[in-house]
Amino acid sequence: MTSTFKVSLPNELNYDQPTGLFIDNEYVPANGEKFTVYNPTNDEEIVTLQGASEQDVDKAVAAARRAFEGEWSELEAVERGALIYKLAELIKRDQKLLASIDSFDNGKSFSDAYGGDLLESYNVFRYYAGAADKITGKTIETGPNKLAYVIQEPLGVCGQIIPWNYPFMMLAWKVAPALACGNTIVLKPAEQTPLSALYFGKLIAEAGFPPGVVNIIPGLGYISGKALAEHMDVDKIAFTGSTATGRSIMKSAASNLKNITLECGGKSPSIVFDDADLDQAVKWCHSGIMDNMGQVCTSTSRIYVQDTIYDEFLTKFTAKTKDNATKIGDPFNEDTYQGPQVSKAQFEKVLGYIDEGKKSGARVLHGGAKHGDKGYFIQPTVFADTTEDMKIVKEEIFGPVVAISKFSTEAEVIAKANDTSYGLAAAVFTEKVTKAHKVARKIQAGMVFINSSGDSHFGIPFGGYKSSGIGRELGQYALDAYTQSKAVHVNLGTEL
Ligand code: NAI
Ligand code: MG
Repeated sequence: MTSTFKVSLPNELNYDQPTGLFIDNEYVPANGEKFTVYNPTNDEEIVTLQGASEQDVDKAVAAARRAFEGEWSELEAVERGALIYKLAELIKRDQKLLASIDSFDNGKSFSDAYGGDLLESYNVFRYYAGAADKITGKTIETGPNKLAYVIQEPLGVCGQIIPWNYPFMMLAWKVAPALACGNTIVLKPAEQTPLSALYFGKLIAEAGFPPGVVNIIPGLGYISGKALAEHMDVDKIAFTGSTATGRSIMKSAASNLKNITLECGGKSPSIVFDDADLDQAVKWCHSGIMDNMGQVCTSTSRIYVQDTIYDEFLTKFTAKTKDNATKIGDPFNEDTYQGPQVSKAQFEKVLGYIDEGKKSGARVLHGGAKHGDKGYFIQPTVFADTTEDMKIVKEEIFGPVVAISKFSTEAEVIAKANDTSYGLAAAVFTEKVTKAHKVARKIQAGMVFINSSGDSHFGIPFGGYKSSGIGRELGQYALDAYTQSKAVHVNLGTEL
C-alpha cells in the first residue's frame, strides 16, 4: 500500500487523497520522476507525487492485459452495464467531493465543476452503462448460399491520456465508452491535475470491477504518456490535448499500428451577421471564449462581426466583459465566474500572447495584464481590429483572450473562418434560418453551434476536422471508436 495524505479543501471538506499508481485495484508506489501539484489560486504546493516510470507503465499494461483476457471478457454485457451504473451512482454520491477536488486542483469555479463537469460525468457513465448491452453487429447476405455476420469486439487494452482543463470529465468521456465496449484501461491523467483521477481508483474498486480493468498512472507526458503511447501491448490510444502532442502520440502509436482517437487544439470562429439578435450573440460569444478561463478546446477565440454592427457589438461585448471581470477570484466563492489559469506555464504562455497581440498593433478594449499579485489570474482580454496574419488570430492561446475583427460579405467571412489549420468548432449568429444552415455546411469544423456556443452533449459526436484531431468521442460514435469489426463468412452451399 502507498500513503495517502489528508487534504482540507477550502470549502471545509476533508478527505484522504491516495497517491502512487492504481493497478489491479490497489494503490502501489510509483518509481518514476517526481512532479509537483500546485494550487493555482495561490501558487502553493499541494503535494509532490511520484509518476509512473516505463517499468510502471509495463506493470499497468500487464494488469490490463490479464484483466482483458480473464474475468472481464467472460462477463455478460448486461453485467458490465450494471457495474458502470454502480460507478455512476458512486460518482453521484461523491459529486461534491470530486467537484471540490477539481476546483482546488484546476482553479475552475466550484459551481461549474459541480453543476457542469461532474453532472456531465455522471450522465456520461449512465449513458454508456445503458449502451453496454446494445452493441450489435450486422448480418449481410453475400450470395444465394452464403452470408456473413459482423461482430463488434472490444479492442483490448486502451491507453487514455487526458488533459487538465476538465480533469474528471475528460476521464468520464474516455473511460465510460471504453468500459461499455468491454475493453480494459490504463489511464494517464495530466500532471497538473491528477488528484480526482487518483481518487477515482477508490470508486472503481468499490463498484466491484475486477482487478486490472481500470488502471490509473499519473506521471509526466514525455515519460509515462510516451511509454503508454509507444507500448507494444496497448491496442488503442485515446488522447485529448495539444495538436503538437497529438502529433507526437500518433508517431508513438505507429509502433504497433494502434487504433487512435485524437482530440486536439482549435482556433474556432464565431460569425456574427448583422441580422443576429445582438444581445444573444454578445452573450454567447462572451461565454464561448471566457468560460473555463478560455481553457476549452472548442473556445470560440476569433470573433468576426459584420461591419454594419461592428461598433455596437464591440461596445456591448466590452461591457459584458467588464461586468464579468468583477467576478474573478476564489473558485470556491459562489459568485466567482473566472478563476486562475491552471498553471504557471499556462499563465506565462497566455500573458506572452497578450504582449504579442499588443505589439502586433491590435486594439485592447479590455484587460491586457495579469489580475492581482497572487496565483495565475489573468484579466479577460479583448482585442479588436485584429488581422488574419497576427499570431493571436492564428494560434491557440487557451486563455481568456479574444480577437475580434469585422467582415462585410458572407463569402469573405467563410474564407476567413476556414483559413486555419484547425477545424474543431464554429458558431454562427443569424436570425435567418437558411443562412444559418448554409454557413454551417460551408464551415470546415467537426461541430457548429447556431445561435449558441460551447455546446456538447453525451449523445452527440465530439471531435474535429483538419489538425483538430482524428475520430469522434461521445454518442454512438465512441462505441465505434472502442470496438473493431470481425466478419464471419458462412457457407451454406456445397459448390466451390
Ligand atoms: P499536452 O497536450 O502536452 O498535454 C496533454 C496530456 O498529454 C497530458 O496528460 C500530458 O502529460 C500528455 N503528454 C504530453 N506529452 C506527451 C507525449 N510526448 N506522449 C504522450 N503523452 C504526452 O498539453 P499541455 O502542455 O498541458 O498544454 C499545452 C497546450 O495544449 C495548451 O496551451 C492548449 O493550447 C493545448 N491543450 C488543449 C486541450 C484540449 O482540450 N484540446 C487540453 C489541454 C491543453
Ligand atoms: Mg494544480
